[in-house]
Amino acid sequence: MPGRFAIVAVLLAVACAAPHDGDHMGHTAEHFHHVHHGPEEVHSHQGEDVCLKLSPPNANFAFALYKRLSAKVAASKNIFYSPLGIATALSMLAAGAAGDTHSQLFSTLGYGGDQLTQTQVDEAYEHLIHMLGHNQKVQQLELGNALAMRNDFKPVDKFVADIKHYYAGETFNVDFANSAEAVAKINEYIAAKTMDKIKDQVKDLDPDTAMVLINYVFFRGTWEKTFDPAHTTKRDFQVDETTKVEVDMMKRTGRYEFYQDQDNHTTVIMLPYMGNTSMMIVLPDVGKMQEVEAYISSDYIRHWHDSLFRSSVDLILPKFSISAESSLEDVLKDMGVANAFDSTADFSGMFAGTKVKVSKVSHKAVLSVDEKGTEAVSSTTIEIMPMSLPDTMDLNRPFLVLIVENTTKSILFMGRISDPTAA
Ligand SMILES: *[C@@H]1O[C@H](CO)[C@@H](O)[C@H](O)[C@H]1NC(C)=O
Ligand SMILES: *[C@@H]1O[C@H](CO)[C@@H](O)[C@H](O)[C@H]1NC(C)=O
Ligand SMILES: *[C@@H]1O[C@H](CO)[C@@H](O)[C@H](O)[C@H]1NC(C)=O
Repeated sequence: MPGRFAIVAVLLAVACAAPHDGDHMGHTAEHFHHVHHGPEEVHSHQGEDVCLKLSPPNANFAFALYKRLSAKVAASKNIFYSPLGIATALSMLAAGAAGDTHSQLFSTLGYGGDQLTQTQVDEAYEHLIHMLGHNQKVQQLELGNALAMRNDFKPVDKFVADIKHYYAGETFNVDFANSAEAVAKINEYIAAKTMDKIKDQVKDLDPDTAMVLINYVFFRGTWEKTFDPAHTTKRDFQVDETTKVEVDMMKRTGRYEFYQDQDNHTTVIMLPYMGNTSMMIVLPDVGKMQEVEAYISSDYIRHWHDSLFRSSVDLILPKFSISAESSLEDVLKDMGVANAFDSTADFSGMFAGTKVKVSKVSHKAVLSVDEKGTEAVSSTTIEIMPMSLPDTMDLNRPFLVLIVENTTKSILFMGRISDPTAA
């Protein structure tokens, strides 16, 4: 096939605090169950060790990405993305890359040098995806991948087999020559996988597209300690020095893992979801957001995590739903992924004998936070409060969120909520 063809990567991420109208966790969990990942399947301990080996480089990648994104996004704008989803998609690209294209992807991900081989990374993701799929009863967490492949253009068999096997990837054929039809088919797939939270993500596709690589992370959790809607009131949120917006603020007084880091001008609280996933909220002191953004790293997160202690806290948290879209080509180029995007790209592991490069990496992430859990689990938490005065955590100004999964030590989502009212 003549010409130069392109790979488009579409990365999606959805995090909801609770089920929404018409959704029922039970049947959706079943709907998403991986057939090939039955509970009886035994995974080697070696694989699990390798799975945890991804955790430090993936965390460093998450913060490196945050620094690049926050340098490009105005302080009054939200940032939200799935570091794990992006790392997974880049690892899949690496599975089809060779030479410098491969080593640049690996070093950007922190897997480079002598640290990990592609096979170890593939196996690690296999285990990680398997472990994240556990416990779908109390939460729904899906990390999935797909390849939309060109009808008349066959990728290397091993690449497709590896994506299916290690990354639980699905494949389907698309007629990219018919651009409108291709866009519709891909958007339909994405909407189904994200419970209609992300629709019309792909706007247009070049007829020379060789493949669209799709990654999605879908998380729907229920607060371990739900908020009482009767305590939700309209209050001000200070977006920046000159902008104030009115938001629904939820309020709950309870026992939380909490830490006030006075030296570093910030306060940290953990809000657990049912299951093994928590939201860590980092609230910089007034006027200190930029300072915190400049220093934040996995070392600080570890320090805060180790310093947290159970306290009674008056927690005031906006109820919100935001979405953020990022175009990642420039960010990834800045981070060292150069060849993948230009004429020197080597994806010979993906397409033998045809030159392809990555033309586009678009990422969209959605986050909804509200009071509710499922009816079955709400208002069942009884807490013994000490007689001392509670600390206050009033999230009435921009804050950082990290949604972390404990068993795989993964940062599923990360971002900055500067304006909870922004669409
Ligand atoms: C501020 O951060 C540094 C680096 O993580 C840490 O060593 C120090 O203990 C922090 N200060 C407090 C009060 O936690
Ligand atoms: C949390 O993770 C542990 C270890 O993988 C697992 O045994 C347990 O069932 C999980 N609990 C929930 C509620 O997800
Ligand atoms: C996270 O997992 C560790 C063991 O891997 C466990 O000790 C800890 O209690 C867990 N924390 C949460 C919040 O689930």
